Amino acid sequence: MHNPGPRHVAIIMDGNGRWAKKRFMPRFAGHKAGVEAVRDIVKACAERKVEVLTLFAFSSENWRRPEEEVSLLMKLFMSALDREVKRLHKNGVRLRIIGDLSAFPEKLQQQIHQSHQLTKDNSLLQLNIAANYGGRWDIVQASKKMAQAAVDGEISVDDIDEQLLESHLSLAGLPEPDLFIRTGGEERISNFLLWQLAYTEFFFTKTLWPDFNVKLFDEAIDSFKSRQRRFGRTGEQVEVEQDA
Ligand code: IPE
Ligand code: IPE
Ligand code: MG
Repeated sequence: MHNPGPRHVAIIMDGNGRWAKKRFMPRFAGHKAGVEAVRDIVKACAERKVEVLTLFAFSSENWRRPEEEVSLLMKLFMSALDREVKRLHKNGVRLRIIGDLSAFPEKLQQQIHQSHQLTKDNSLLQLNIAANYGGRWDIVQASKKMAQAAVDGEISVDDIDEQLLESHLSLAGLPEPDLFIRTGGEERISNFLLWQLAYTEFFFTKTLWPDFNVKLFDEAIDSFKSRQRRFGRTGEQVEVEQDA
């Protein structure tokens, strides 16, 4: 084994619709079943001392889906938030919803704000839920903030570097994801965390998200632990450092 366990795991929870279709159920039933899997994985992360878990719940492109599915997804999101936040808080989880929240109904925005406030001092696990999130949006909104700071004379253009840009991204200050998991069989990023995945280890599984479980999660973690992360260096250099 090369690596200790991941500090930050990022997951694209894909395959809910196909899970439902296989059972001759409406797509929405798959989304509902997916919430159960989220609960199990959050618990598993806390037990395995993962510090940060970032889940992709709704992409900025998912608005393109039929109106009925989008509106059912909003309702599910609101009711899950309502139901789960107290329990998460009790278990020491700090919750953050990342994405362009301005597109959400006012009531949902308030609910999100309250959940942030309630859990802000917790430190067992940081749970980020990406909703109306897009990796490109994240980089653009960070760039706008830097441009505004330059216009206002707070920074000069030469102050702009990777560190400054990072400090304006949605996951500012958190370690970059060590392990990325995508369920559902597709092997693509679908505009998830573009900047932050630069050196992340990828794990793809055909298992559909509602069927994802702790056993598979441990398989992903074991796969991660067995890999050598080189960050541009040679394997030999890394081995020397690990022995030191
Ligand atoms: C992922 O499952 C959940 C969301 C995108 C909201 P999908 O709904 O994409 O499921 P498939 O890919 O159609 O099976
Ligand atoms: C990515 O899944 C977004 C979420 C899981 C929330 P999609 O199912 O929307 O991705 P594509 O469209 O197949 O790439
Ligand atoms: Mg999908």
